[in-house]
Order: sequence, then C-alpha cells, then structure tokens
Amino acid sequence: MKKRILGRLGEVGILLEPKAIDALMRLPDADECVDRMVEDPGNRALILTEEDIVGYARRDDDIIRGADDVLPGVEGAADKAAEQGAGRLKPGTVKVIKDITGNSTCVGNVIDFAKLFKDRYLTLRKMLSKRRELAGQLPIARVKKLERDLRFVGIVNDSHTTKNGHTIIEMEDETDKIMVLVMKGSARMNEAFLKDEILGVVGSFNRDGELVVAKDVIRPDVPLSSGMAPNGSESIVAFVSDIHLGSNTFLDKAWKRLVDWLGRDPVAKDIRYVVMPGDLVDGIGVYPGQEEELRLDDLYGQYLALSEAVKELPDRISIVAMPGNHDAVRLAEPQPALPNDIREMFDSNIEFVGNPCYLEIEGRVILAYHGKSMDDFNSGVRRLNYTNPQEAMKEMLKRRHLAPVYGGKTPIAPEQKDYLVIDTVPDIFVTGHVHVCELDEYRGIKLINASAWQSQTAFQRMHNQTPDPAKVPMVHLGTGECWVEDFSG
Ligand SMILES: [Fe+2]
Repeated sequence: MKKRILGRLGEVGILLEPKAIDALMRLPDADECVDRMVEDPGNRALILTEEDIVGYARRDDDIIRGADDVLPGVEGAADKAAEQGAGRLKPGTVKVIKDITGNSTCVGNVIDFAKLFKDRYLTLRKMLSKRRELAGQLPIARVKKLERDLRFVGIVNDSHTTKNGHTIIEMEDETDKIMVLVMKGSARMNEAFLKDEILGVVGSFNRDGELVVAKDVIRPDVPLSSGMAPNGSESIVAFVSDIHLGSNTFLDKAWKRLVDWLGRDPVAKDIRYVVMPGDLVDGIGVYPGQEEELRLDDLYGQYLALSEAVKELPDRISIVAMPGNHDAVRLAEPQPALPNDIREMFDSNIEFVGNPCYLEIEGRVILAYHGKSMDDFNSGVRRLNYTNPQEAMKEMLKRRHLAPVYGGKTPIAPEQKDYLVIDTVPDIFVTGHVHVCELDEYRGIKLINASAWQSQTAFQRMHNQTPDPAKVPMVHLGTGECWVEDFSG
C-alpha cells in the first residue's frame, strides 16, 4: 500500500518528510488524507511535515476515521501548539532566534573561508535536494561520468555571456568542477548567476562532453504561502531604519513629529515594538569627507544622542537595535550586536542584536538585515537599482541567502557557520541601507525597506540616489496588515 500511496503523491508532486510518511501510513484511510492534500494546492507547504499530516487528518475538526487512535500526537500536538501560542502572545517580549552575537568563531589571524562555504553549500544543497526536479542529485565528480539526465548542486565560481549570447556558468562542489551552458532564449537566460550562490542544475552533456547544457537551473527559493494567518495579537511593530544620528542631515523635526504621534495617536497606542535595522548613528570615517557632514564628530556622543532620542519613545515600546555599516562594530557580516560600553548608555527596554538577526515577536518570525549586500545585488543583477530594494530582497529569498557574493562590496567574516543563509522562512523580512520606503510581498512574506531619518547627503547626490526619509512602515502582528505612516512634513 505504501508504494501505491507514494506513487499517488509522486504523480501530483507532493513531497513528504520521512516522519510525515510514517504518520500517513499509520492512518487506516491514508487515501482520504491524500485527497485532502491534493485539494489544497494553494495552502500546501512545499514539503509536508508530520504536523501537516496531522493538520490534514483533522481538517476543521473533520477527523479522518481512526486518526485519533493512530496519531496520538494529534491531541498532544494541538495542546502544545495552543500552549506555545499562549506563551508567544505575551506582549512586549522579543525573542532572538538567531544572530552571531556571542557565537563568533573567527578569532586571531586564521582566515579560513573553507568552512563557511562548506556550511553554505551543505545547508542549501539539503534544501535543494528536497526539490522534485533534483531528486537523485549526485556529486559533480559522479555526474561527470554520465551523459544525460545530470542532476547536481554546486556553488557558482564565475559566469559570463559568450559572444553568441549564451551564458556559461563555472560551478564547483567538494568533488570537482563543471561548466554549464544556459542557452540564449531559454527560460533562465535572463537570470543573473551571482558568484558564490548555490544552484541546482538539471541537464545533459553536449556532444563533445565539455559542457552541461542546462535544461533547468533551480534555486532553493521559499515555498509558496498564503502569508500571515490571523493569530489574535493586537500589537503593531514599527520599523525605523537608518537614523544616522550625528549627521548634519539628521531630520530632527521629523523625529519630533514621530515622537509626538507615538504619544497621542489612537493607532499608535498599539505599537508595542520598534525594530531598527541598522545605521543607528552616522559613525566616523565611514566615507571620505564625512567629517564635513557631521553635527557630532564623536562616536560616543552620537550614541549618547541616540539614547536620548530613544528615551523620548513611549515606555510601552520594546526596541530592537541592530547595527549597519555606519555603526561601531566590525564591518564584516554577520555583525555582532553593539559592544557593552555603548549598550550601557541605553535603558533596559532596548534589545541589541546582530546583523542579520532572526526575531520572534508574538508568534511572528522577523528576519532583519541591514542590507549592505544590495550594493552587490544592484551591480550584479541588471534590473535592480537603489529605488527598488524590494526586488533585491526577492532575489535574496530566491537564493535563500542575504549576501552570496564574496569579494564584492559586502565584507564577509570567515565564520564556521553561514549566518547569512535564510534557513528559516520568515513572516516579515525587513531591510534598510538604501533609505527608501517600500512595502511588498513575496510568496506570503512581507517585504519592508524601512526609509531613513536623514535627508539627501552629498554622497547620495553624487550617486544620484534620492532618499525617501521620515516614513515608518508598520505591520499589525495579529492581522498582517501593513501600511506606512509619513512624518516627512
Ligand atoms: Fe544608512
């Protein structure tokens, strides 16, 4: 029976984790459960877990015959979820799920990138190998012995366009290198293959066996999802990025308007969280000639001013502060949280986190990343620019990586684990860095680029970048509703 059921699932492209298969096979009427999965393509996860099976078996309390007897976890799981839900909904609590702070392993002079890239490769290969198209993928050394139906996962060493308009990608894994040809006119032709990103390839060798002609190039991507289902939370999270305190272009009047609004507006009373995704202060010596544009030319003075500015926000608000490329921590990503001597200047309602950081707030997972890698995405992917950061964010999600390019404009630290891999699918993904305000959605994930509190700088003028400052994107954690409040004047 197992073979028949798995065959049925295979036909419709439904993938199950091993535990999910076990759970399904325990059901006296597994076919009924499969029917329910087949009927639900819009909401179905890419790879179904044991909990998903339990969910289908109990859909809307219409329990499949005998399911409660054979899935004892059903009752327990429901209770546990309710319990966790109740705990998660305690307002005011910010849980840091993952960041580099306190976990950095790169010390001394040993610069060892091999472990970082191996970790990236293995994590993303695991994700890719769950894709139906890549079932049976093999190491490059082994696929080289085949002629057709090659399936493998590799890291991009380099890619270039030939004079005939085809794209050649040089790829590598731990075992060997291989050249891949993406034909002009093929579906993937307009894709940009970035150095150090991980790709899955399906293809066949060309006649002389030198190149793999790609039939498909597959990225890990995030699964389709209908987004944030209502969870009963009544709180709002506001995103306040790139404050740049200390700069002479810091918008104090706009900041004052924000503070006043938070204190009196009926909508604002539900704002329980403010997440600040980097560039808290303007810093010192970040770019040549910066001293001409500083109002406060002392780094500690800048953070002191920030602590005063933050004190003006109502006490009910929990604040999450992340560094960016202007802040007082190492530039190389992942960046740890600000050091203790700076933290001590602030009240206890502020949580200092690293960049990037996964947070959980009232049952919602937020991925916050300052966004320095947009400099690399914008130069590597033709259709991207500084006015559409949400498009670069989609490219990151497709690659399940925040900053794949090593040796570009984003400095990367040789950690043993790759903290820039998007291993968990967030509900909300927020960035800053480019000083514009954008709200978008990709496969159910809310995308936010969170404006700035600085008017156009000479540097931005020179690079033709027009900021969209003093805007605050908001997300209602209960309903998932998103909007922007404008404090620009
Ligand atoms: Fe910035």
